[in-house]
Amino acid sequence: MIGIALAGYGTVGQGVMDLFQKRKESIQKRLGKKIDICYILVRDSRKKRDIDLYGAELVCDIKKILDDDDIKILIEATGDITLGYKLIKEALTKKKHVITANKAVLSLHLEELSALAEEQDVYLLYEASVGGGMPLIKPLQDLSLHGEIRSLRGLLSGSCNYVLSKMRIEQIPYDDVLEEAKNLGFLEADPIDDVGGFDTRRKLRILATLAFRGKIEEDDISLEGITKIEQEDISRLFQMGYAVRLVAQAFKENQCVQATVHPMALPITDFLRSIDKAENGVEFFGDHFIKVCFQGSGAGRYPTAHAMLSDLEDVLFSLRRKTSPLGSKELHIIPYQKKARYYVRSAVPTLFAIEEQIDEKVWITTPVAHNVLKENLPEGAVAIAIGE
Ligand SMILES: NC(=O)c1ccc[n+]([C@@H]2O[C@H](COP(=O)([O-])OP(=O)(O)OC[C@H]3O[C@@H](n4cnc5c(N)ncnc54)[C@H](OP(=O)(O)O)[C@@H]3O)[C@@H](O)[C@H]2O)c1
Repeated sequence: MIGIALAGYGTVGQGVMDLFQKRKESIQKRLGKKIDICYILVRDSRKKRDIDLYGAELVCDIKKILDDDDIKILIEATGDITLGYKLIKEALTKKKHVITANKAVLSLHLEELSALAEEQDVYLLYEASVGGGMPLIKPLQDLSLHGEIRSLRGLLSGSCNYVLSKMRIEQIPYDDVLEEAKNLGFLEADPIDDVGGFDTRRKLRILATLAFRGKIEEDDISLEGITKIEQEDISRLFQMGYAVRLVAQAFKENQCVQATVHPMALPITDFLRSIDKAENGVEFFGDHFIKVCFQGSGAGRYPTAHAMLSDLEDVLFSLRRKTSPLGSKELHIIPYQKKARYYVRSAVPTLFAIEEQIDEKVWITTPVAHNVLKENLPEGAVAIAIGE
């Protein structure tokens, strides 16, 4: 029997158990071996759960999992940075395969954990960490291994997409949409991780590192979230033919990388503009494959659990390489300098050359480099790059 431990029995963990039970018979038949989830790690063992435990032992001590030699695979879905890191590291050290959705841990320790997995000759898979149910990491690893990826751009936060779409479609103010999104479970009680763009930046750090086969860290990525955008900005830009989205972008030229997360006004012709509500979308551009686009459910119990189950099958059937997917290219990170026209709303006049004045506080600038704009933007001003 191949023993599996599941860490975390919240939104994702319970989805993993549910899908595991539905697919277990079929996997066992194909594999010719028994498999089972033997332990579930939680913080509070008395909490009521939606999904049955199916005979798994509920534990609060990670030693139970780590010290059991029959546990060959750890599925980590806790979201806890300290615990997640310790658990993943020790599991790999004990030659257990690891599947994780923990983008925060991966963003901080991707290189170290990938090297450890390779050294221990076990899998470290993390399809669910970016793009939820959308297969993204696996195809990206293939694309980057067999060709040169030049750039990528994407909408990586279903929550931000939901907030921005709702503000436009229903013309509701930012604060009201935020409250509604929290009540519906699209946003955490403290939503800054999402609306501040931090979550998107972590995902871009992971994608760009895999795409360009060299290390790109969170601090290398310039960041502006959606917290300052008001409904009037969205409406004005929509009247001009644009939809506002939080866009993550990175590109590489002669080993120099520029990466950013910032709000953009996208024209009707832009693929990312068609990604509405809580969906995610990503496009990769490369030498030979030219362009590849992905669109799908970026989060949620079953899409995310599905991604973890796909990783589980890849581990069980040895369908992937165990070597680290990260490259060792020496990359130079430079500030994001791409020029764009900007929609600027500011209480004080802007210093930038103006293409059009919309009203006494709102201007469209002539094309200006992103880093120059950021450095010279007046306090409290809102700037939204206009996509061409
Ligand atoms: N939710 C999504 O749609 C989604 C999508 C993509 C990726 N992810 C990632 O998936 C992971 C899990 O997210 P989630 O939404 O399922 O979170 P969640 O609903 O808050 O569940 C977290 C689970 O982990 C357990 N846990 C947390 N800290 C722990 C600790 N220190 N010791 C033991 N158990 C601990 C909790 O135990 P208790 O139940 O006892 O509190 C809970 O069962 C995160 O890394 C997240 O970024 C989530």
